[in-house]
Amino acid sequence: MPFHRGGFFSLTFLGRLLVEFTAPQLGEDARLFTGTLEATQGGVKILILTNTNAGHSDLKNWWHGRRHSATGGRILKCAPVKGKNMRVLGIESSCDETAVAVYDGARGLLSHRLYSQIAMHQAYGGVVPELASRDHVRRLLPLVREALAEAHSDKDTIDGIAYTAGPGLIGALLVGAGFATALGLAWRKPALGIHHLEGHLLAPLLEPKPPAFPFLALLVSGGHTQLVSVAALGEYLIVGETLDDAAGEAFDKTAKLLGLPYPGGAALAALAQDGRSGQFVFPRPMLDRPGLDFSFSGLKTAALVALRGRDLLGTVRADIARGFEDAVVETLAEKCRRALVQTGHKRLVIAGGVGANRRLRERLAAVGSSAGADVYFPRTEFCTDNGAMIALAGCLRLAAGMRSGVGMSARANWELGSIGV
Ligand code: KG4
Ligand code: ZN
Repeated sequence: MPFHRGGFFSLTFLGRLLVEFTAPQLGEDARLFTGTLEATQGGVKILILTNTNAGHSDLKNWWHGRRHSATGGRILKCAPVKGKNMRVLGIESSCDETAVAVYDGARGLLSHRLYSQIAMHQAYGGVVPELASRDHVRRLLPLVREALAEAHSDKDTIDGIAYTAGPGLIGALLVGAGFATALGLAWRKPALGIHHLEGHLLAPLLEPKPPAFPFLALLVSGGHTQLVSVAALGEYLIVGETLDDAAGEAFDKTAKLLGLPYPGGAALAALAQDGRSGQFVFPRPMLDRPGLDFSFSGLKTAALVALRGRDLLGTVRADIARGFEDAVVETLAEKCRRALVQTGHKRLVIAGGVGANRRLRERLAAVGSSAGADVYFPRTEFCTDNGAMIALAGCLRLAAGMRSGVGMSARANWELGSIGV
């Protein structure tokens, strides 16, 4: 018997077990739902509050009142403890990688495991969502066992479970969210839904020389291209973003036109290594206008026009790949330069799958040094999707006593600027 209210609240009555998921935003309004408890007529034995600090005083008072004292009901608490060093199990399952990691606030990354579904989806030329979900179900538990074993961790030493709650493929997200929430309830530890892009932009903090807050972040993944002014953990202001395709999406679509297998970004970059700069000159979208927004959809059309009617022998394909890569890199670099000037940030962080691109890394390092800003990249395996960034984000949030995201949640679309603390 589930009850939902605006995505903030869910009561599930399963036989004699009543489970409550309440976002902190609901605060004292949770008392509205004591009426629902009344409706169970005292038949509830256990009330599980996944976020006991969200201000459920009415619920708790009611529970401890006359009606239930007779039945001997219990409240199980799953709240994070502020100030304690946190060790967090992180789970990423938003797309085509199942990834798990254990991050410890004092000792750093203890283990990380990843299974890529690329080979399975390659036959279809892209990610098939239903196959992705089913494969996450198959891979997740063995990966969790391996990551916990390598980190010498178990339910007694793990303080919380962080999982990617969105954005992403909804079925794939639900696998991670359902698993993490169930494990949290079984272990009586908080399960925390993390924004995938927050994971990406915090990934450079996994490195030996992490950036301090505040910083400017360029987020370049398969689904997003954003410039984010990061004031502190959870304080994200989007200062520029793509109006159409993401940079990674443009790489993937152009790679397909060039006959390269999915996922095309890395393959196109490898082909571009053999190409010559300047043989094909593609437009630098939005550079002729002020502002920090991007537009990449025209680039694949330009690549299509360049390819049309051409003999693709010799270095022509590589030259086109190089011309395309130059255009994307140049555009991203110039917007980063402008954003550094505009925001006054002295630290630039690059994150997301396209951040693995070698030429982009070189170019942005040069932009940083001429603008007097330090530039931070995650190692390439932490640019693309991974569990370490989710475990880290969960660890930082739990250690800071942040409650946002406690309880099960999965959202296919989710604005980074709206996540809060
Ligand atoms: O962050 P990510 O792993 O997944 C999403 O959250 O989307 O990013 C994947 C994207 C894909 O579009 C992929 O083609 C691109 O990152 N990518 C690259 C490179 N490696 C991955 N693009 C350009 N050069 C690369 N070396
Ligand atoms: Zn990603």
